Amino acid sequence: MTDIKNIVTLGVGLMGQGIAQVALMAGYNVTLVDINDELVNKAYSGIEVGVKKSEEKGKLGEGITTADIMGRCKKSTDLASAVKDADMVIEAVIEKMEVKKQVSKITMDNGPSHIIFASNTSTMSITEIGKDCGAPDRVCGIHFFNPVPLMACIEVIKGGNTSEETFNSAMDVANSLPVLRGKRYIAPVLKDRPGFIVNRLNAPNHIYLHWVFDQTAEKGIPWGQLDADVAGLMPMGPIELTDYVGIDTFYHIDNYYAETLSPDFKPGKVITKMFEENKLGRKTGQGFYNWKENLTPKGRPTIDKSTKAGMFKAEISMAIALNEGCRLLEEGVASGYKVIDDANMAGMNVPGPFGMGKKQYQKWIDMLEDLANKTGKEYLKPCELMKTGKFLEMRK
Ligand code: CAA
Ligand code: NAD
Repeated sequence: MTDIKNIVTLGVGLMGQGIAQVALMAGYNVTLVDINDELVNKAYSGIEVGVKKSEEKGKLGEGITTADIMGRCKKSTDLASAVKDADMVIEAVIEKMEVKKQVSKITMDNGPSHIIFASNTSTMSITEIGKDCGAPDRVCGIHFFNPVPLMACIEVIKGGNTSEETFNSAMDVANSLPVLRGKRYIAPVLKDRPGFIVNRLNAPNHIYLHWVFDQTAEKGIPWGQLDADVAGLMPMGPIELTDYVGIDTFYHIDNYYAETLSPDFKPGKVITKMFEENKLGRKTGQGFYNWKENLTPKGRPTIDKSTKAGMFKAEISMAIALNEGCRLLEEGVASGYKVIDDANMAGMNVPGPFGMGKKQYQKWIDMLEDLANKTGKEYLKPCELMKTGKFLEMRK
């Protein structure tokens, strides 16, 4: 197995910063790489703030200071030279296949002959990303959840050409990374299918969301009322979470699902307009909400949740996820429904659908038929495994 000491985190925006922070805290030497000095310097400062917070809580280990940890952090704007002495690249650049392919090739052309390229893609085929880089056996997925330092789940994905050695090294690295809340949970992903486990489980809820967003806009209902619909049931409502993840990421993800799973995933009018206007959510300071002014002490938007829209139904959302969880089992992406439920809890802080679904699925079948008719989205119709209830036999 490859002995990993030096890691390059490539693309140090929202995700890359978090990945670099936990890698530094695990003891790796980390080089931050992005397209210009300003972005790299901003990331370095953000990471330093995060490490300092951990130091103040005594989470760095006996006698270890922020300065010790940041002393292992280098900066670069040139991937080709940064990979020269690296053992692994973890990329978190924009969710675009051509960019991921390009950086995997630069890595393999310039890195040592053992270097591993791990992608943090939310959705895209690891096999395709690695296909033309020259060493597809050394390409895999290590998929984190946002915010990285606080979210327990990491999915490790074996692409069609990933070697056992690469996969095992990636599992080792994932297992070595600290999480600041709860216990680290690693979900091995058995098949390279769009969205892997957690994102795929939640993917068709985007179809529902695009429909709800567009209806809400047509009716002129304030966005906060949609978040109010699930207040107390989810740590963030669907509007705040979409802003938090990034409108561009949401948009690219759904276009990818539209190409690979069903045209029903095509982003709706609201998200498309926001993407075109560069209102990308937290990262640009403006999305559905304003993320620059009138923030809560935790740096989040102040949302008026006093009135519910009655448009987004948590039970429908669970039914949709159960159906997709059954598709994941049909496709052999996860070994059983326990992994799916556990991964969702660790990746989204929301229970997976099978716990409730075991008792409710017959009622939910009717709900899904009804929703598919109302929205005209065939993909929302219940699959065979859900309809027959045979998923009940597939716990592990
Ligand atoms: N380093 C060290 N400490 C940090 C830190 C960092 N980088 N970031 C935050 N902290 C600290 C905070 O300072 C805070 O400390 P105190 O308790 O001492 O104040 C503590 O960690 C907790 O932070 P918050 O108070 O901000 O956390 P919260 O309780 O409000 O929870 C949340 C925030 C975890 C984001 C929660 O709202 C949540 O679970 N939201 C849902 C997130 C989610 O669904 N993520 C998945 C999105 S999908 C995805 O990621 C996959 C994809 O491919 C798109
Ligand atoms: P982001 O826009 O915050 O950061 C992307 C960074 O990559 C930017 O700083 C950009 O300058 C840089 N970049 C772009 N092209 C580059 C190149 N050729 N070389 C070096 N740097 C380059 O995006 P993000 O939200 O951190 O998402 C990054 C990746 O992580 C995407 O693949 C996304 O799907 C995935 N992801 C995102 C989330 C999320 O919640 N945002 C969660 C899990 C996975």
